[in-house]
Amino acid sequence: MPTTPLTSSEIAALHQRATEAAKNSYSPYSHFRVGAAILLHADTCQLGETVAGTNVENASYRLTTCAEQAAIAAAVSLYGPDIRIRAVAIVNLNGATCMPCGACRQTILEFSSAETAIFYPTSTGETVSTTLSELLPAAFRLLPE
Ligand code: THU
Repeated sequence: MPTTPLTSSEIAALHQRATEAAKNSYSPYSHFRVGAAILLHADTCQLGETVAGTNVENASYRLTTCAEQAAIAAAVSLYGPDIRIRAVAIVNLNGATCMPCGACRQTILEFSSAETAIFYPTSTGETVSTTLSELLPAAFRLLPE
């Protein structure tokens, strides 16, 4: 799927949506408030929508849902199984560096290409722009690409 570069306003809008979602974080155990927003490829939904999610923790700890996974589950629920992800922005309200965890990288891969852009924050306030292939170079795959 061809990937055109994101504009600065698209990236800013993605961060805004992720930040709004992070404000809804249910994180009474870690107090780490995460938001993720995914920009969908326009030809896999109506208009190239953005869908956001936040982390939802659980007293068992291991049943916690990460923000990225919440966003992807919402996107599939809204737009169906053919969605493809153009970009993901991750934020947190704790001023911390926050790369997607290993499980989230594998979940993002399911609906992405190697070029899918990933934006994550550092503790110094910068945003790092990377790609899924950089974050998950030796991914598990069941289906041929
Ligand atoms: N968390 C995410 O939402 N996304 C990640 O990629 C890493 C971790 C959440 C899970 C948990 O609620 C909190 O951050 C602390 O690990």
